[in-house]
Amino acid sequence: MKILVCVAWPYSDGPLHLGHIYGAYLPADIFARYHRMVGNQVLMVSGSDEHGTPITFVAEREGVSPAEISERYHRINSQIFEKLGITFDNYSRTSSQNHKEVVRDFFMRLYNNGYIYEGEMISPYCPKCKRFLPDRYVEGTCPYCGYEHARGDQCDNCGRTLDPQDLINPRCRICGSTPEFKKTKHLFFSLSKFEEPLKEWISSKDYWRENVRKFSYNFISSGLKDRAITRDIDWGVEVPLPGYEGKRIYVWFEAVIGYLSSTIEYSKKIGKEDLWKDFWLDENARHYYFIGKDNIPFHTIIWPAMLMAHGELVLPFDVPANEYLRLEGGKFSKSAGYGIFMPQILEKFDPDMVRFYSALNLPEIHDSDFSWDDFYSKVNTELIDKFGNFVNRVLKFTKSKYGRIPPMYELDDDDYLAINKIRETGENMAKLIEKVELKKALKEWLSLVYFGNQYFDKSAPWDICKNDDKKCSTKLHISLMIVKSLAIYGYPYIPFTSQRIWKMLGNRDDISSYKWIDAISPLEEYHIQEPEILFKKLTFINFENWQKLDIRVGKIIEVKDHPNADRLYLLKVSLGDETRNLVAGLKAYYAPEELMGKFVLLLYNLEPAEIRGIISQGMLLAADDGKNVSLLTPTEKIPGKRVIIKDFQPKNSEIIKHKDFSKMRFEVVRVETTGVKPLLKGSKDYTVEENIDDDLIGKELVLFFEGNTPFILRTENGLILTDRIVDPGARIR
Ligand code: MF3
Ligand code: ZN
Repeated sequence: MKILVCVAWPYSDGPLHLGHIYGAYLPADIFARYHRMVGNQVLMVSGSDEHGTPITFVAEREGVSPAEISERYHRINSQIFEKLGITFDNYSRTSSQNHKEVVRDFFMRLYNNGYIYEGEMISPYCPKCKRFLPDRYVEGTCPYCGYEHARGDQCDNCGRTLDPQDLINPRCRICGSTPEFKKTKHLFFSLSKFEEPLKEWISSKDYWRENVRKFSYNFISSGLKDRAITRDIDWGVEVPLPGYEGKRIYVWFEAVIGYLSSTIEYSKKIGKEDLWKDFWLDENARHYYFIGKDNIPFHTIIWPAMLMAHGELVLPFDVPANEYLRLEGGKFSKSAGYGIFMPQILEKFDPDMVRFYSALNLPEIHDSDFSWDDFYSKVNTELIDKFGNFVNRVLKFTKSKYGRIPPMYELDDDDYLAINKIRETGENMAKLIEKVELKKALKEWLSLVYFGNQYFDKSAPWDICKNDDKKCSTKLHISLMIVKSLAIYGYPYIPFTSQRIWKMLGNRDDISSYKWIDAISPLEEYHIQEPEILFKKLTFINFENWQKLDIRVGKIIEVKDHPNADRLYLLKVSLGDETRNLVAGLKAYYAPEELMGKFVLLLYNLEPAEIRGIISQGMLLAADDGKNVSLLTPTEKIPGKRVIIKDFQPKNSEIIKHKDFSKMRFEVVRVETTGVKPLLKGSKDYTVEENIDDDLIGKELVLFFEGNTPFILRTENGLILTDRIVDPGARIR
């Protein structure tokens, strides 16, 4: 069978986070690896979605070109896929010449078929910025769910696609002014013509996930409107028609065509120009689209309609969209700077640990929660104690007893049961994976792990080997068959580990050249390699203290004298969408003009306190060495940014009392050496498992101690420094 595994193209506007991995890339990879192993012809394609306002937005914020942003994150995200073992056959990008050509041809075909026409549209225009605003540049309240930060294209809270006019109380995201709505010329795609065909098509998809089917059906039932497919922007694919030189094709319209362009690019790369036709022109090829739930309408309605309008290409077979992953209760999102970013995770954990835990926790039917507690505990107990130890015990014992895989002689009931269990597990997993129920399939695999442990314990080879060599040999052979089948069945989930086990079993070639069905055949009498421990156990720090803190970046926007106290200022500190009033004892150390405009750290969840008759809503963090006082200041100057340690986001903040805060331990340190294990000098020498850049030599950073373990205080893309030199070892208050 031919299977095209299409995976959502991630915007190259930031590093991928765990939410993306759970949502699309890992499930797609598990699915693709499985199908390759059963001998299907698989092609897995995706690429970076480089155009549109997500990229220009970040570029404008950083003051660099969109191309630079896109180049940076295309590279970073490609490396993430590599490290995590996401095996794309082709990972392309929308800025490629090939993509642009395929888009142009696709576009012209729809135009010639009469599905693209010119029309007028009312667009938001910002009178202050003097420009038409792309949908994403408008923010307001969602008319459906009331979420206050819905964007003009979509509400991230309820997932509905929107038009900027739908928003209540719209604002320009560049300058905050209220946009006007003006007429402008655009090209439209006749989506409305496909209402009936789409309805019929979706009704035939009774095997789709219920949430996907319902969502899509409701979407159509509320009526399909034609959609503008050009935008007033200059970063994107050019419109192949005259009169549209200043506009570009809407990013979604061209990005979905990427599934086709990436397949074509792959065919060219391997020198089989026509290969793509096997996948796109053959009715029997099955196309699976792996996406997160916010992408559903584009993949079950708009893209299928575009394919219908094209007339020749294969429609999606299944769109197993995942629900959301919540991080310790909150929602993942790149743009909100809230999440767990893959570069940091992969620095710290074995990729198979991440894959294993993620797969066990996939949001296939409901949202799921990621928590570090649970991560450590599942990895330690299931993957390491149960699985890793089982494999290690069997291999070690066999190695020391025979040095090779011993033969199988007469079987008893338990042995037949074991062989049966191996076969059954393979069949059950296959059925589930084919239905894209990957979490359940992994649970089947785990049941074989448990079975293996029981079988090995019950067999007690350490006893029988003393007096019955044939039986001992048989028991070990079957235990090794369980190990081998766990490697094969586990390969879609934990490929790196499977490969290592494979080698330990004495195989020379790659496990990927074996088949699913090989799991049930007896082993050949290979020499066993010296068994190595599969994983190092994780030690857990629960961040009990850190969880209590909510520290944010603020900007001082007003400084006044306290009316009733000589040593105090009244400050106004902006956090972006909120301003706080503070009373601060800084007069002896800072002049008002030194404070104005400064970026500082605010202990945001401190219990408000009355100080000489005026309420202070929080406290600025400062270092104090007994002689000098220095405010702490962030290198990333974005009001509202949360302060983090490593990649650990604090849990959401309950109010903290001053006396509890004063028990927390912080310390100023001077950077002595940089790199992966930097030397930091405070009241004594410390080192942390965090990489710091060379240009920080001699600078002062701040450590937070969870128990006795130090962590560098940082923001997502920056560090926290002292504003003035203080003695290393200075405390924070
Ligand atoms: N870039 C989009 C997102 O991250 C997904 C695009 S899928 C595509 O939400 F196929 F259209 F590219
Ligand atoms: Zn504006």
